[in-house]
Amino acid sequence: MSRTHFGFQAVDETDKAGRVRGVFDSVAGRYDVMNDLMSLGLHRAWKAYAVAVANVREGQRVLDLAGGTGDLAAAFARRVGRRGLVVHTDINEQMLRRGRDRLTDRGLVLPTVLCDAERLPFGDACFDLVTVGFGLRNMTHKERALAEMRRVLQPGGRLLVLEFSKVAKPLEKAYDWYSFTVLPRLGRWVAGDAESYRYLAESIRMHPDAATLKSMMKEAGFGHVDVHTLTGGVVALHVGIRC
Ligand SMILES: C[S@@+](CC[C@H](N)C(=O)[O-])C[C@H]1O[C@@H](n2cnc3c(N)ncnc32)[C@H](O)[C@@H]1O
Repeated sequence: MSRTHFGFQAVDETDKAGRVRGVFDSVAGRYDVMNDLMSLGLHRAWKAYAVAVANVREGQRVLDLAGGTGDLAAAFARRVGRRGLVVHTDINEQMLRRGRDRLTDRGLVLPTVLCDAERLPFGDACFDLVTVGFGLRNMTHKERALAEMRRVLQPGGRLLVLEFSKVAKPLEKAYDWYSFTVLPRLGRWVAGDAESYRYLAESIRMHPDAATLKSMMKEAGFGHVDVHTLTGGVVALHVGIRC
């Protein structure tokens, strides 16, 4: 049996998806309020930056993977207009339902698909843009997921990976204190769950750094990959072009 990591723990590969599901089942109800609190609202700026870089045009077809409560899907839906398409997806039913409700509340009715990014139920080359916001870190076989993202993109299409990354050295101490002391407490007070927020901090530390992720995307067949480092390395946006 192959091993992988779930935060700092080594687990069987076959167990990781179930454990990740447990985390998001537990936090789904308080996900958005916790996102605002934990990032002091910065997640909105990171997402807005990704949407600006994506620069989608009317009529384009966008696939939002690990779309959760739908922030990116909503932003893209407004930009592609009625002639375009945004498909909102996630592996977790609770997160997807919350996302669908929030989208509907904003007057947006999008196709919503429960699916694993490692096995996408879409044909080859059917999207102009694929996005994954703060989702890749949770996937068991990142190479497999990246290969799937490439497969469903048309040649010249782009993949945007918005994800936590490695902070600049001078910020490390403060960031570690915040991640391992403040975050789990916030999680306990607001969401009644310290463990899921400890997992969040640990999973960020286990995620490949920006240079490694760039090589993984190149390996997966993205001919050109740009990296945008945001907020001192707290987050990185990788933009890959499918050859
Ligand atoms: C931190 S949330 C991000 C949600 C949203 N994209 C955002 O930026 O607010 C991570 C999401 O990844 C989803 N996820 C984890 N593993 C996945 C997989 N293998 N395929 C698709 N989604 C996955 C989780 O269910 C969760 O909704």
